[in-house]
Amino acid sequence: MPNQKKLFVFAKIENEFAPAGILTLTEENTNVIASEFAYGTKYLERPNAIEIDPVSLSISPKKAIYKKKVAPVSDLRMFGGIRDAAPDAWGRRVIEAKLKAKANDLPESTYLLEAGSNRVGALDIRPDISSPAKDGVQSVADLHYLLDAAERIEEGAPIPAKLEIIFQAGASLGGARPKATVRDEQGVMWLAKFQSRHERLDVPNIEAATMHLASECGMTVPEVKVIQIGDRNVMLIRRFDRYWANVGEAPPMEDALFRTTPGNGRVEKSLHFISGLTLLSCDEMQSREKSYSDLAHAIRKYCGQTVIRDNNRELFTRMVYNIFVSNDDDHPRNHGFLWDPTLAAWRLSPLYDVMPRSTIATERYQFLGVGQLGRVATLDNAITAKEAFNLSAQEATTIIADVWERVREWKSYFEKFGAPTESIEQATNAFRHIDKISTPKLRALLP
Ligand SMILES: Nc1ncnc2c1ncn2[C@@H]1O[C@H](COP(=O)(O)OP(=O)(O)OP(=O)(O)O)[C@@H](O)[C@H]1O
Ligand SMILES: [Mg+2]
Repeated sequence: MPNQKKLFVFAKIENEFAPAGILTLTEENTNVIASEFAYGTKYLERPNAIEIDPVSLSISPKKAIYKKKVAPVSDLRMFGGIRDAAPDAWGRRVIEAKLKAKANDLPESTYLLEAGSNRVGALDIRPDISSPAKDGVQSVADLHYLLDAAERIEEGAPIPAKLEIIFQAGASLGGARPKATVRDEQGVMWLAKFQSRHERLDVPNIEAATMHLASECGMTVPEVKVIQIGDRNVMLIRRFDRYWANVGEAPPMEDALFRTTPGNGRVEKSLHFISGLTLLSCDEMQSREKSYSDLAHAIRKYCGQTVIRDNNRELFTRMVYNIFVSNDDDHPRNHGFLWDPTLAAWRLSPLYDVMPRSTIATERYQFLGVGQLGRVATLDNAITAKEAFNLSAQEATTIIADVWERVREWKSYFEKFGAPTESIEQATNAFRHIDKISTPKLRALLP
């Protein structure tokens, strides 16, 4: 029998959560079969209201959605903007451990309610209009407990009382790898991605060095570092959806994302986040048919006028980089967008989750379509899509040449970033020589 649940969606405006609207989920056992949402009228009257979902719940113009109950477009069962505020595989395992439930055995409304107030983005979902926020961020000093707890969750072992801090610190997060949210000594929030005991691969060092290299290639990359806790490595990536500023103050996004810190009366603010899957208005099943060009098109449709050109240029650079480093896990949830309060519009988020995959395959494929030859991971294929990114042949070849200039030296960069020799060895078969992914004809066009 279908069962209807009413949930209260809050959005963080400045440094306080405001009720944004009511979500009605129709569930049958663990599955959502329909959703409806109505923005609160008071919320829409706020000049700085944020849009929960640009595709199904656009607030420009606000009057189009005033006092309306709407369902997601494209027959989707969930609003993408709400689904992105739900935990993904890892957060679900944490919530199941807390509630002593089997894998994927809880209704979606439970996962949505249990994820806590530090989930990615600026939303919180609560059972009642008067329910308080659930803050669960731990200190970086507690990482050893969080690592032990994460290991137990991976093994399905019970969690002793002193490790229960993982239930809030780990429940809010997307992605499949074990992780937690922590604050450093200053109070800045980081996402900690753990090394799995069963994994021989030094994922934290390889991922961190690949992110540093992306930054050298000119992409927008959050601060990333690797720390050692006992015999395990942890990659810390600064949360790009949090920044520090005075109430009423909106620093330029480049500063907000990377450089702001607590102090001098600054408060912590949140930026609302949605995934590429939401911008493409599809579900995981349909995402296999989507391409980078589809994302570029969605950027033109939904992002702020002033950032479209730069965002599409960066997306093309990310596609080229993913081809060079064999990051074939470039699915739409590994691309993100942020609501920029200075523009009152969407923009591409900084880069995250780029992990080279070593393989001996000569023919490789990306998750998303690259160009006219589909998902084939070659530069010739990439260049066929240049128009979708609004790039001339000269601009596209310059991007390729610039990325290659750094990627060809990747080993020296990895050494400079402190990656151990053994980890560099592990990544070797992921990095591709330009001759293996392009034709002489294309190489002749490079500046
Ligand atoms: N620096 C960051 N700031 C804020 N949110 C982030 C950051 N990095 C990642 N995220 C969010 O957390 C989610 C999980 O992170 P990530 O994709 O790195 O994990 P993963 O477990 O490796 O994912 P996957 O299952 O795709 O392999 C992302 O989908 C994104 O929503
Ligand atoms: Mg991911």
